[in-house]
This record gives sequence, structure tokens and C-alpha cells, in this order.
Amino acid sequence: MNQDLMLRLFRSIEGEPTDDIVKVADAIIDSERKKGHSKLADRLNGILRRNVQSTQSLKGELTNIFGSTIAIPTDKRKNIPLAVEVPREQLRHEMVLPTEVEGKISRIEKEYVARERLAHFGLKPKRRILLHGAPGCGKSMSAERIAWNTGLPFLKVRFEAVISSYLGESANNLKSLFDAIRNYPCVLLLDEFDFIGKSRETKQDVGEMHRVVNILLNVLEDYEGPGIVIATTNLEGTLDKALFRRFDDIVELPKPGNEEIGRILQHTLGSINVSKEVQWSELASVLSGYSAALVVKIALDAAKLAILSGKDKIEKPHFKQSIHDNKHYKM
Ligand SMILES: Nc1ncnc2c1ncn2[C@@H]1O[C@H](COP(=O)(O)OP(=O)(O)OP(=O)(O)O)[C@@H](O)[C@H]1O
Ligand SMILES: [Mg+2]
Repeated sequence: MNQDLMLRLFRSIEGEPTDDIVKVADAIIDSERKKGHSKLADRLNGILRRNVQSTQSLKGELTNIFGSTIAIPTDKRKNIPLAVEVPREQLRHEMVLPTEVEGKISRIEKEYVARERLAHFGLKPKRRILLHGAPGCGKSMSAERIAWNTGLPFLKVRFEAVISSYLGESANNLKSLFDAIRNYPCVLLLDEFDFIGKSRETKQDVGEMHRVVNILLNVLEDYEGPGIVIATTNLEGTLDKALFRRFDDIVELPKPGNEEIGRILQHTLGSINVSKEVQWSELASVLSGYSAALVVKIALDAAKLAILSGKDKIEKPHFKQSIHDNKHYKM
């Protein structure tokens, strides 16, 4: 083949080192070298390596607004990433919280934002957080909101990839994940991390899971990175007390009180007309004891009932019907 054509062809090749097209290209380089065309072989090799490398870095590396990069490690056997990044536009962040809880969460954010000022005095922001509380009351959402308000990228650990049935591999996965975020400012969420504790009793080897919990304690304790690690659980009682000591802050997300329920309802239905007959405080007391997630669902279901029945506003009977339809979800 004519040299120019060959160079043009090679410039259009992209892919991973294991792709067939890249292997064929490597074979062509070898054959040119064998023919004594070492200069051409070197040029082709240079082009190929550049293209393969840029494809790899596009696939494997994340760059954040601080200019730091990270290649999220994968589970060796299945090649599944040990964490996923949730894009900023998908982060849930508009929360209604009791004043005291709001104060605690915003304190975490403020300390992060003031990290350089704190460092002047040898102080560090809170960076290991445990969120606990009843299901559907904003644990995962709080973690997302902290990422939103601090501007940090949000990475969620994939326990199904981290926990392996092969001896020693889960521990290695945890270590390599924490190693990867050592210099990468981000919020790392270990959502429902008591999963590790729970799987102690199931199919996993007891000794191995015990080891994984210990490794988790160690990596948490050693975390000195530039971001925030957040763990969530709804099982405070059964958690290992040793775990609590590892956190800089422990925040309980309680079920919403009547005042918060009223605000969640109004916030959820902010863009929909609601009949004047609907008294928020009255409705809130009917929903007393419901989780925030269920209050949101009831509000949205009432809106759908109104729309489907051709009304231009939500009326009392729509809420009544929606509460009735959702009674099985109440915990
Ligand atoms: N404080 C809150 N303010 C407004 N909406 C909330 C709040 N808490 C929860 N929600 C609503 O409930 C949904 C579920 O919340 P989230 O996923 O954070 O619950 P969770 O505490 O992590 O529950 P689980 O224990 O089931 O994982 C949210 O998407 C949101 O619609
Ligand atoms: Mg959750």
C-alpha cells in the first residue's frame, strides 16, 4: 500500500488495545518492520498509540471542575466500575428539613466551602459523614444536595461490584476505590452501606465479610482526601458501634413533622392549581407520621387524579382518594 494512504488509514483508527482493528494495525506495523521499513513502522506506531491512548482516557477518566482527574477502578473479574458518577443536573437538592437538621447539613456544606480558611488555623472540614433515619426521609437526597451545594462531583459506590465472592477481592476493591479518590475532590456516597454488615449473615463467608467491614473501617478512618465521604443507613441499632467513631458527624434524618409535611406538599405542587378549600395544615395532620417520600407520592398522585378527571385544580376528594390508594405504603 502507498505510504500516504497507509498513514491516513492509521490516523482514522480508534479503539482499545484489545479491539480487532487495533490488533490488525499492530500486525501491519510488525510486517512493515520485518520488511525493513522501520521509519514507517515507527510513524505508524506513534499514530496508533496516540489514538488508542486518547480513546482510553476518554472512556476511563473523569475530570472535575477543580481540574482533578480520576479513573474509576473496576472490579477485576467482571470489569464493572466500582462507583458511578451521577451528573450534576440529576442531583436532587430541594429539601424541606426541620431547622435543626437543616442547620447540621448546611454546616457540613459551609465547612467545605470554608476549607481554606479553616486550614489556616490547622482545622479541617467535616469529611466523613453518617446519615441515618427512617426510609424515604432524605438520606440519599441529602448526600446529593451536599454535592450540589458544594459543587463537588457526586460518585456513588456500587456495592454489587465491590462485594465479590472471591476471597480478599472485596477488600482490595474498597482499597483501590479509596486510593483512587485520594486526590480527587468529590462526594463519595456509600449508600445503605450496612449492606456489608447484612451480607455477613447471608451467603458470604463470615470471616471474609468480617474482614471487609474492618477494611471499610480502616479506609474510612484513613480518608484524608479533599472531598466528603457520606455513608447512609436505616439500621442505627444494629450497626457496629465501632463504626460510629469513624465519622466526623452523624446526622439523623427524621420523619417530617406536620409543619414540614405542609411545606413538602406545597413545594411539590408549586406549579399546579389547588382548590382554596384544601387546608394545608389539616391535610398535614392527616399525613402525620408519613415519610417525606410518601407525602410527595400522595401529592403527585392527587395531581394526576385531578388532571385525569378533567379538573383544572386539585380538590379535597383527590387528596382523599390518593391517601386511600397509598395506604399500603405507610410504615
Ligand atoms: N426532606 C425532604 N424534603 C423533600 N423531599 C424529600 C425529603 N426527603 C425525602 N424526600 C422525597 O423522598 C424521595 C426519597 O428520598 P431519599 O431517597 O433521600 O430517601 P432515603 O432516606 O434515602 O430512603 P431509603 O432509606 O429508602 O433509601 C426523594 O426523591 C424526595 O422526593
Ligand atoms: Mg436512600
